[in-house]
Amino acid sequence: MRRKIVAGNWKMNGSKDLVQQLVGSVRSEAESLDNGVEVVIIPPAIYVSDVVAQAGERLMVGVQNVGQWSSGAYTGEIAAGMAKDQGCTYALVGHSERRQLFGETDDEVAAKVESLVASGLVAVVCVGETLEQREAGRAEAVVAAQVKAALANMAADQWGRVVVAYEPVWAIGTGKTATAEDAQAMHASIRQVLAEMSAPAESISLLYGGSVKADNAAALFAEPDIDGGLIGGASLKADDFVSICQAMPASTTS
Ligand code: 13P
Repeated sequence: MRRKIVAGNWKMNGSKDLVQQLVGSVRSEAESLDNGVEVVIIPPAIYVSDVVAQAGERLMVGVQNVGQWSSGAYTGEIAAGMAKDQGCTYALVGHSERRQLFGETDDEVAAKVESLVASGLVAVVCVGETLEQREAGRAEAVVAAQVKAALANMAADQWGRVVVAYEPVWAIGTGKTATAEDAQAMHASIRQVLAEMSAPAESISLLYGGSVKADNAAALFAEPDIDGGLIGGASLKADDFVSICQAMPASTTS
């Protein structure tokens, strides 16, 4: 049975006030969810311990990025082990904003994944094509190459600590969501790639991200290979985020 996950990526947004307002109400709403969804909050790293303090048992916490090293003279970086130490369970890696704005390469993503899984965190590996790549008919090839590169160094016993998030770059923050059919097709293709890598593809959770909102989440989550969502803007409002968590059907995955 695959884990069903709804994760809120706050990106570089938030404040101590937002943590106070939002995390408590998401937690109390999440406590009454009976669909088995794992709810994750991924704030800027500086607020992780504030979120952990509010999260209780029900919410999981993650970081948006880590450095690939375990410690040392890397001013400004945080290590996977530090995120774990502060109570994180998850970490994003290879988000398209990191790839596009900070020049993160496939090799760096792979090194970070290695560091995350070795530290006992779940790596949420973000992949996705640009509009140009989609229009050129290369979307599946681009995403397959990203998946293979990011997960090239996985040992057989580490796959349980991997989640893949498909986030088409053209859908992030634009209000344009992939149709449920197109997202499903890409997720099926990613699962096929994982199977070809000898991963336990049927047990790896695949999340969709890119303008997921309360009114389109149910259609996406109803697809057989979409095991949850990675939510940006809508994760900054408790009602919207909780509605998305509620949109997960109890029997999406098998
Ligand atoms: P939006 O939901 O704001 O489109 O962001 C998606 C995303 O990038 C989550 O990581």
